[in-house]
Amino acid sequence: MSIFSQDAIEEATSIRRQLHSFPELKFEEYATSDLVAEFLIRHGYALRRNVAGTGIVATLDTGRAGRVIGFRADMDALPIHEETGLPYASKVAGKMHACGHDGHTASLLLAAGQLAQDHAALNGQIKLLFQPAEEVGKGAAAMIEDGALDGVDTIFGYHNRPGFALGHVIAKAGPAMGGNTLYEVTITGKGGHASRPDLAIDPIFVGAGIIQSLQSVISRRLSPLEAGVVTVTQFNGGTGSNIIPGQASMTINTRDGSPEAAKLIDAELRKVVANVCEAYGAQCEINMVLRIPSVVNSLAETNCVVETAQELFGSENASTMYEMPTMGAEDFAFYLEKRAGCFFFVGNGEDSAYLHHPKFNFRDEILPVAGGMFVGLARKLLSEQA
Ligand code: NI
Repeated sequence: MSIFSQDAIEEATSIRRQLHSFPELKFEEYATSDLVAEFLIRHGYALRRNVAGTGIVATLDTGRAGRVIGFRADMDALPIHEETGLPYASKVAGKMHACGHDGHTASLLLAAGQLAQDHAALNGQIKLLFQPAEEVGKGAAAMIEDGALDGVDTIFGYHNRPGFALGHVIAKAGPAMGGNTLYEVTITGKGGHASRPDLAIDPIFVGAGIIQSLQSVISRRLSPLEAGVVTVTQFNGGTGSNIIPGQASMTINTRDGSPEAAKLIDAELRKVVANVCEAYGAQCEINMVLRIPSVVNSLAETNCVVETAQELFGSENASTMYEMPTMGAEDFAFYLEKRAGCFFFVGNGEDSAYLHHPKFNFRDEILPVAGGMFVGLARKLLSEQA
């Protein structure tokens, strides 16, 4: 028993496959945005387009006082060459919907069509946020900067999750996905001859010291009850076989399990870099070039997600989770820094290829589940008298 008509599900499936065939990368989701806009206009939504570039904020106003709830879908694909062999596989070489954002977008459209029919029975407003550039962690912040959260009280979104039973809905209160921070570090020493290190300040040696000491941040400073990762992903320096270079640079990628852990890792990491440099007489510069906070769900909204899923699909098909399923980041976190809400997961099947894999595919079976969640949440939260 589905909330949706068979025709509506078939249309959403065909939209999903259309998006899958023509993936577009970060901030270039032009055709995707046009397709989304056309569908929403046809269903009576008031649209604000070109939000954060290719983004859309669509409003369904019931005309009655009440809460304003936001639902968000991400629209961007990845620079990966698809290897699924599907009949509707990517027709664009080197680009692919390998994270299922095609499905996220199609399921929110499926819900949008139904909500347009339901609106006489609802109060308040629904705002649909179709967001560009989630994969680079920049779309959500750009949407917020462009006013996408204005007037929104509560926000919900989801990600499909390989490894979890197909269509199973899972939500976790508190931190639910990791934060991700990137730093660029430049170490300035003093160049010289390889045979006379005493006359130089060797930035490669200093960098090696930093790399070793950085692991103390997680192992000696962060509480063992908290999650965190520090990884040096790039270390560059040197121009010749007998020259000590004047400069070296590195990229540090950190993951954190909570805003508190992120704060501690940031402070301790900066201390290690500065102090190791100082100990060896080098200068250092450290720049934070990307920060995606951890996804932190509010308790009431998380409970609401699990209750809605249990009511719609049965208690065996929905669960509360008590551990973070991944330290991977998700830029929905930026919305949750500003508003209460919940970012939940819908299982993409235990046998699913993992996200960002060339054989990954969003399973069409979860379109009515995820779409049903948005409709169910709207009915639950907007049926109450304001
Ligand atoms: Ni994704």
